[in-house]
Amino acid sequence: MKAKSTVLITGASTGIGAVYADRFAKRGHDLVLVARDLARLEALSERLRRETGANVDILQADLTDEVELAGVESRVRDDARIGILINNAGASAAGGFADQTPDDVAKLISLNTTALTRLVSAVTPRFVKAGEGSIINIASVVGLAPEFGLTVYGATKAFVLFLSQGLQLELGPKGVYVQVVLPSATRTEIWERSGRDVNTLPAVMEVDELVDAALVGFDRRESVTIPPLPDADQWKVFDAARQSMIPNYAQVHAADRYQPEKALAS
Ligand SMILES: NC(=O)c1ccc[n+]([C@@H]2O[C@H](COP(=O)([O-])OP(=O)(O)OC[C@H]3O[C@@H](n4cnc5c(N)ncnc54)[C@H](OP(=O)(O)O)[C@@H]3O)[C@@H](O)[C@H]2O)c1
Repeated sequence: MKAKSTVLITGASTGIGAVYADRFAKRGHDLVLVARDLARLEALSERLRRETGANVDILQADLTDEVELAGVESRVRDDARIGILINNAGASAAGGFADQTPDDVAKLISLNTTALTRLVSAVTPRFVKAGEGSIINIASVVGLAPEFGLTVYGATKAFVLFLSQGLQLELGPKGVYVQVVLPSATRTEIWERSGRDVNTLPAVMEVDELVDAALVGFDRRESVTIPPLPDADQWKVFDAARQSMIPNYAQVHAADRYQPEKALAS
């Protein structure tokens, strides 16, 4: 029987990534865990080796550091055992846009979008050649709702959603499965790390429930998984509205409301 593929998980030292590590180890996969905090990665890998017998490798890396990111890129590019990439590492930033410095926003973009995209780019040729492989990208419902006021964070997550949808169209026919997961507020350190008290939020999902739900979507080969959304048809209606506009973009002339003579008259 073919061995189960190894799973590389970014941001595996705590939170959502650590639960993914636990679940995939219990499913019989070997792991490569990536994050900055070596002590936490070692503690998790020791527990998982002991409890599940999985082989667990650690790659200590700051994904906002070009050189360290390049090391992780090489690993996903060259290690043919890695058949599942989970792009989970991410952060939010404290305050509103006016409080954030150019360096704050650049760091967020670098972790949440650039690192994620580079890792997908590094692994894709190998997956396409093999005609198989899975990519799980962790986005957020914030990427659908500028109303939440997490503007740059939400913009990075909208990028992850768009990227994943584009990859689904491009890579799906080549045998590569891409899932994008949109959690809502989940009890992890991300809130504290970005200066927010999770206990002030109206509703918070526990991290085990979030990951187990996301894995139900993964097992169904769902493309977009929104664990907290009660009515899946709402997403379908939203996406259908978006798609219904596509044929209308091909126009030689601007819409009537932008014709200067008509705009003046109205
Ligand atoms: N929790 C929520 O409410 C929520 C909601 C929607 C989406 N999400 C998304 O879910 C994903 C996981 O977040 P979480 O809630 O589990 O957050 P978390 O508990 O803060 O964990 C974030 C993980 O990313 C790693 N990380 C952070 N900065 C890094 C860097 N520069 N280089 C490498 N690793 C880095 C952290 O490890 P080290 O500190 O050891 O590096 C940690 O393992 C993120 O993409 C987040 O945007 C979370």
